[in-house]
Order: sequence, then C-alpha cells, then structure tokens
Amino acid sequence: MSFPQSRMRRLRRTESLRALVRETVVTPGDLIYPLFLCPGQGVRRPVSSMPGVFNLSIDEAVREAEEAAQLGLGGLLLFGLPESKDELGSGAYDSNGIVQQGLRALKASSASKKLVLIADVCLCEYTSHGHCGKVVETADGWTVDNDPTLDLLAQTAVSQARAGTDVVAPSDMMDGRVGAIRRALDSAGFQDTPILSYASKFASAFYGPFREAADSAPQFGDRKTYQMDGANLREALREISLDLEEGADMILMKPAMPYLDVIRAARELTGVPIGAYQVSGEYSMLQAAFERGWLDRDRATLESLMSIRRSGADFIVTYFAKVAAKLLA
Ligand code: PBG
Repeated sequence: MSFPQSRMRRLRRTESLRALVRETVVTPGDLIYPLFLCPGQGVRRPVSSMPGVFNLSIDEAVREAEEAAQLGLGGLLLFGLPESKDELGSGAYDSNGIVQQGLRALKASSASKKLVLIADVCLCEYTSHGHCGKVVETADGWTVDNDPTLDLLAQTAVSQARAGTDVVAPSDMMDGRVGAIRRALDSAGFQDTPILSYASKFASAFYGPFREAADSAPQFGDRKTYQMDGANLREALREISLDLEEGADMILMKPAMPYLDVIRAARELTGVPIGAYQVSGEYSMLQAAFERGWLDRDRATLESLMSIRRSGADFIVTYFAKVAAKLLA
C-alpha cells in the first residue's frame, strides 16, 4: 500500500498516539552520573570547560549521590584527583586513595542501596606524566609498557573492590587487562564483582574537557599508541570480542555520538549489556550551544540521549544524568 491509502502522519497526530508507537525510551535508571572526587571538605570546584560539573570533596559527593538516588539514576561512575601524583600512579591502588575513601563513604550512605557504584580503573589521573600506564624509554623514545601496567591495574581493581565498589570499569586500553583484573579479583575473593570494560575506546579529541576535570592530560605525546584509531570499526569489534573472552561482563563504548555506528555494530555482535559514554566534549559542545541560545536545552539534551539508546546502548554514562532525570520526571 502506498499513498494515499498509506499515510504516515496518521500515527503522529497526537502526543498520545506518538507515545503509543514510540520505539525507544530513556529512563533515569538508564543513566550513570560521573563524579570527580577530590581531597578536602566542603569543596565544590567548578570545571570551567564543563558548566554544571564540579570537583567534589567526599562529603559533597555523598550529597550528590543522595540527590542522584532520589532522582532514580542508575548509578555513579567515580574518578579521583589524588593529593599527589607519581611515576607509577600509586594513588590509584592505595587502599587510602581518594576513590577508595569515596567508595567507603558512599557505601555507608543510604544512597548506595539504590545506586550502582562503578569505579573507573585507570592510572592517568594518578601518574605525574598523565599516561594510562608505566612509561619506559626505548630506543625509539618513550612508550607505555603494557605488561607491567597490568599488575598495577589489577591492584587498582582489587583495592576498589575492597573499598566496596559494585563494578570496576577499566578504561586504560592495555592489552590483556580484563583477564588480569578478573584473575586478581577472583583470587582476592571478589569473584562476584563484575567488570565493565571500556572495550572500544577511541583516541578522541572529545575527551578534552575531561582532562581538565580529572587533571589527566598527558604531559607529552598523546594516547594514540593505546587508544583506538577513530577510523576503525572492525578493530573495535575485535577489541570487544577479546574483552569478552577475557571475562568482561559488560562493555562500554566511547565516545558515543560520533561513534553511534560502532555502538550499533556492537549491539549486533553481542548479547552482553552495552553502555555508552557520552563524553565530556559531547557535553561541552552542547552546553556551549545552549549558552548562546543556539539550541533548545531540554529538547537537545533528551534527543542526544535518545540517539544513543536507539543506536543500541542499554545504559548511558552522561554528565546530563541529573538534568535529564528531572526532565523525564
Ligand atoms: C581515563 C578516562 C578518560 C575518560 C574516561 N576515562 C580520559 C582519557 O582517556 O583521556 C574520558 C571521559 C570524558 O571525556 O568524559 N583514561
């Protein structure tokens, strides 16, 4: 049947009809809110390139978590700004590190009953050079040494599990880290702690504002020898398959909006739960347009999240989580 028997506009006539035939929904429970924990008390330091995002001391983070729980968000993703940094990023796996302290405080709050606490596993916020692993000199210059880094990442994950995290989320992109983390968790008695692997993480300009928020910009070079080339879809699928073989329980795709085709391909590849990370640059470019009055804040926020769900992501890590939950209420 074609026009005039067929008229697509019939089902668009009223909001109730549109709601009845809507194929994709976003709910607050699909959204994960990132928090940047910093030392101190009563600290709420704005991140200049990310309006509405703050570095929070742990007491402030607990308050934020309570609000997140009230809004019905799915969970929190925790990053840390340590007191001091060193060559090997020891603040990442220190049992008294900033994320470990934060986890203990959040676990003790009532918010933790309703939220999934996810700890980012990476070294770049904790290393003096800002790279995601151990840096060594070679004949061709410096490189991030894969295998010795695995042990540091595994120690990080175990210390976060001890501090009470519900999920660990490795974002470093070293080869073999999911397997190393799984083995370390299992032998420390954390066989029930799931791994959310940033399986396909592209070397992206869209992480720029995050590096201000987390103070994690590399001091030299870039991350192209460990994060993926943005041109490569087939390689992303291999990364996912390898992480699943090593024991990943869920995968995280990142960035989201510039890589929706990769999320769709991942959805078709695997039945495991897939998250997508609407990263800092995606947030900041929308915020910049909102500030200029160039885009409608509420509609563009929800449409951006809808596009990510429609591409096949089950949940979304987003700095819009609280704002979006209020719009959806
Ligand atoms: C750590 C990490 C990064 C992000 C999440 N985990 C930054 C990076 O790889 O440089 C980016 C998140 C964002 O941009 O919002 N490796």
